[in-house]
Amino acid sequence: MCGIVGGVTDKNITPLLLEGLNRLEYRGYDSSGLIVLSQKNSFDRARSVGKVSNLEKNLKLRNKEINGNIGIAHTRWATHGEPSSRNAHPHISKNTVSVVHNGIIENYIELKNSQIRQGYEFKSETDTEVIAHSIDLEMNSCTSLVESVQKAVKSLQGSYGIGVISSKYPDQIIAARKGSPLLIGIGENGNYIASDQMALLSTTKKFIYLEEGDIAEVKLDKVTIYDLNGKIVNRPAQESKLKAGQANKGNFDHFMQKEIFEQPQAIRDTLESRITNNSVISSSFGHQADEIFRSITQIQIVACGTSYNAGLVAKYWMEDIAKIPCNVEIASEYRYRRPIILDQTLFIALSQSGETADTLEALKIAKKLNNTLKSLCITNSPESSLTRLSDLTFLTHAGPEIGVASTKAFTTQLVSLALLLCAIGKLKGSISKMQESEIVSGLKKLPGLINETLLQEKQIMHLAKRFKNNSSALFLGRGTMHAIAMEGALKLKEISYIHAEAYPAGELKHGPIALIDKNMPVIAIAPNDELLEKLKSNLQEVKSRGSQMIVFEDESSKVQSMDAMEVIQITSNLGRITAPIIFTIPLQLLSYHVALEKGTDVDKPRNLAKSVTVE
Ligand code: M6R
Repeated sequence: MCGIVGGVTDKNITPLLLEGLNRLEYRGYDSSGLIVLSQKNSFDRARSVGKVSNLEKNLKLRNKEINGNIGIAHTRWATHGEPSSRNAHPHISKNTVSVVHNGIIENYIELKNSQIRQGYEFKSETDTEVIAHSIDLEMNSCTSLVESVQKAVKSLQGSYGIGVISSKYPDQIIAARKGSPLLIGIGENGNYIASDQMALLSTTKKFIYLEEGDIAEVKLDKVTIYDLNGKIVNRPAQESKLKAGQANKGNFDHFMQKEIFEQPQAIRDTLESRITNNSVISSSFGHQADEIFRSITQIQIVACGTSYNAGLVAKYWMEDIAKIPCNVEIASEYRYRRPIILDQTLFIALSQSGETADTLEALKIAKKLNNTLKSLCITNSPESSLTRLSDLTFLTHAGPEIGVASTKAFTTQLVSLALLLCAIGKLKGSISKMQESEIVSGLKKLPGLINETLLQEKQIMHLAKRFKNNSSALFLGRGTMHAIAMEGALKLKEISYIHAEAYPAGELKHGPIALIDKNMPVIAIAPNDELLEKLKSNLQEVKSRGSQMIVFEDESSKVQSMDAMEVIQITSNLGRITAPIIFTIPLQLLSYHVALEKGTDVDKPRNLAKSVTVE
């Protein structure tokens, strides 16, 4: 999930490349680099480890500006080879070809061995360098750069989005994609390539989305696209509705903190125009939604990470309330296990970014396995790959989520899934008008309830101070709260680097209870629901083994506080739909403040990227 940007213009390309890299940093920030063809048709390259700001510093320290009209740039999330300058892209072959790459070349060892035998020297440990050498090799027998790339990619197994420049063809960039996103930006003073339109929005709003196997020859005043079979094709340009505005932190210290506090507004935006008189407008899922929802007999949700946790909550809701069978699966498993997909299944791809490679691939495979399948994507990214692949699209309207740890995307996904629950249940006759009205009025109360819950921040800050020295933690919940416990554990792991696991509280006695002692803090979620008494018994089991506990409870849950147990009251009388959303908030705040105490990079935690576009 690296980020690529490049362009051919009539002015110096370097500022555009740097701006693009900054906007693409959410795709990875292990290292970054750029290369430009100078006036003398020679390569001028700069690479740095870490964030794009390091590359900018590196460029300032040079005594000569990098200047030229053609260039490509890359921000890396390391797959093959540690994050280092020599593994940073762009890579060069024989001072003739330079390549940036997003994806994974699975047969790179085989290609590398053969290229070494042919006299190529490898300067990095990456899988990408073989692409540069393959193109250089093909240039010996081809009459154009595009032909060399067409031939070279035939030997590649795996996934790629690539940008290629050559000192022998100083008027063009070649872009090719298979399995990794890549688009062409059409501008007034030039043409561009990028992994995501965000990189180019301040330069152009006109984009051509390359299709699988496409190769594009991008010149100052002309773009030619060849399909999988080498035939010239016409791919129409589309006007983007996205705005270039750079997201900023406002009065907050971190994007994550800002995004936690934006949740009331984000939920209002998710609900806007989707409900009328306490009833869900089912056509907000798409024109064909009514017909599709009436016809389905089961639901398959596929997602990764936080989105998967949202899917788990929806499974409880769909089966318990809408009475429709619902399965949830992690996309990276689903895509490889040849699932049996019954007719009349609604496949739901849940993804904040709409670009997660495993989720996209799972959808493609499901469509292949059952061509009657109907699909819905719930995403925060209106022009993402997932929206282009799905029959129905529902946008979460959370606004840009910049922090790597997902917060408002999760709660707006839950709200979207609750709206879907009503739409499906209503059309299938399993949810009455009254039930729907109760659910919708509960959803409308969420912004106020979240604001109340956010007032607990001070208390949670104190807890975080004590918590920071722990090396592990257990999160417990029952029913939908197990999924919320999973989300709490994921948040803590990813931004504070504290090992955390979540268990359904009733499962503890089947093994994990052996971990409990005074060094294993337990965080439990205790809403006042039909499982409360069972949860209270589980808490006693934990307490009697000496654990330090934090219990987040509904005011009416009345969990009895004991020694070494902190009980924090959230709010009262939450419903089945609102409770999981509200109990998420203190867990987000807890991991945020523990991370602050530990001094980690909250918005860009180590080894992660916001959008995971490689498998
Ligand atoms: O964009 P997606 O929702 O498809 O992303 C899925 C996961 O990569 C994502 O939720 C990840 O787990 C977050 N960093 C969690 O905070």
